[in-house]
Amino acid sequence: MPVELRDYRPADQSGLIALWRAADLLVNPLNDPETDIRFCLESGHGQIIVGEEDGRIVASAMLGHDGHRGWIYYVATDPERRIAGLGRRIMNAAEDRLKAQGVPKVELLVRDSNYQAIGFYQRIGYVVEPRALLSKRLDDIAVPMGGATTDDDVVITFLEMSERPSVPRVEPKIPIALLRAKAPTTAFYHYLYDAVGRPWYWTDRKAYSDEQLAAVIQDERVEIYVLHADGVPAGFFELDRRQAPTVDLAYFGIMPDFIGKRLGPYLLGTAIEMAWEGGTARFTVNTCTLDHPAALPMYQRYGFKPYDRRRVPPPWRRGDTSTYENG
Ligand SMILES: CC(C)(COP(=O)(O)OP(=O)(O)OC[C@H]1O[C@@H](n2cnc3c(N)ncnc32)[C@H](O)[C@@H]1OP(=O)(O)O)[C@@H](O)C(=O)NCCC(=O)NCCS
Repeated sequence: MPVELRDYRPADQSGLIALWRAADLLVNPLNDPETDIRFCLESGHGQIIVGEEDGRIVASAMLGHDGHRGWIYYVATDPERRIAGLGRRIMNAAEDRLKAQGVPKVELLVRDSNYQAIGFYQRIGYVVEPRALLSKRLDDIAVPMGGATTDDDVVITFLEMSERPSVPRVEPKIPIALLRAKAPTTAFYHYLYDAVGRPWYWTDRKAYSDEQLAAVIQDERVEIYVLHADGVPAGFFELDRRQAPTVDLAYFGIMPDFIGKRLGPYLLGTAIEMAWEGGTARFTVNTCTLDHPAALPMYQRYGFKPYDRRRVPPPWRRGDTSTYENG
C-alpha cells in the first residue's frame, strides 16, 4: 500500500515517537517528544502530518506559523524508506498547508553538522541563509555556562583532594535535615536525579536499565544522602566508595527551587566531612561546563584541585550518553 499522508491522531503517538527516535531526532534530552506533541497541537496553530504505511508511521512533519513566518519541525522519514521521494512529499504537503494559510515564507532550523538534512532541503528548494540564531530559555533550564553555544564541546574538569580540608561552617537559612536513603528504589532515585539534574543536562544515569541502576544505588558502598528543607527534598549527594580508599562525589546538587538559600555550601561541607570518614585516602569529583557556573569555583574553594580536563561532545550530540559522568 502506498504511504498515506494524513493528520496525526492520538493513537499515532508511540509510532511517531519511535520514528523520531529512529531518525535521531531525540538526541537532546531536553526535548520531551510527548510534551512537544501536546504543546504543538494545543497551541491552536500547530499541526502534525504523518505518513502511514500498513499501520506504521513512516514519515512526519510538524508545522505552524507564528503570525509572520511558517516553521517546520520534526521532519523525518523511516530510515528504510529514504531517497524514495517520501521526504519531498511530506514537505510539499506541509508547505501547501502553510500556503493555504497565507504564509509567505517557511523557515526551519537544522543543526549545521547535519549535512544529510541540509543536502535534502537544498535539493527540494531551500536555501541556507546567513543568519545568527539567538535564543533565550524562558523556563528554568540553565543555558551552558559562559554563553557557549549548545554545539560547543563540553569540558569536564576532574578534581581531587588527598587530605581532609578544614571545611568552613555554613548555616543554612532554613531548617534542614539530612537523611541517608539506604538502598532507595529506582523510582525515588529517578525523582531525585531529575529534580536536581534536569537543568544541568544530567543524562548518564537515564541510560541505565532499572537493574543496572538498582545494582549501583543499592550497593552498600554507594551512599546517597538526601537534604530536606522544611521537610521537603531539596537536594542530594552521592558518595561512591566502590574504589576505596578513593571516594568519589558522584553526584551533588540542590533542586532549582532551593538554590540561593546557602544550602549548597552547607551540603558540600557535609559531603566532604562524610567522605573522609572510614580511612579515605583520596576524594574526587568532576564538574563540567554544563553545570552551574558556581560549581567549579565552589569545589576549589573547598579544597579540591583540578588534575585533569577532557573535552567531550555534549550529550545531545552523542548517541550514547552513558559515558558521561556528571559531578
Ligand atoms: C532528511 C530526510 C527527511 C529526507 O527524507 P527522504 O525520504 O530521504 O527524502 P526524499 O527521498 O524525498 O528526497 C528528496 C530529494 O532530496 C535528495 N536527498 C535526500 N537526502 C539527501 C542528501 N543527504 N543530500 C542530497 N540530496 C538528498 C533525494 O535524492 C531527492 O532528490 P530527487 O527528488 O532529485 O531524487 C530523512 O533523511 C530523515 O528523516 N533524516 C533524519 C531526520 C532529520 O535529520 N530531519 C531533519 C531535521 S531538521
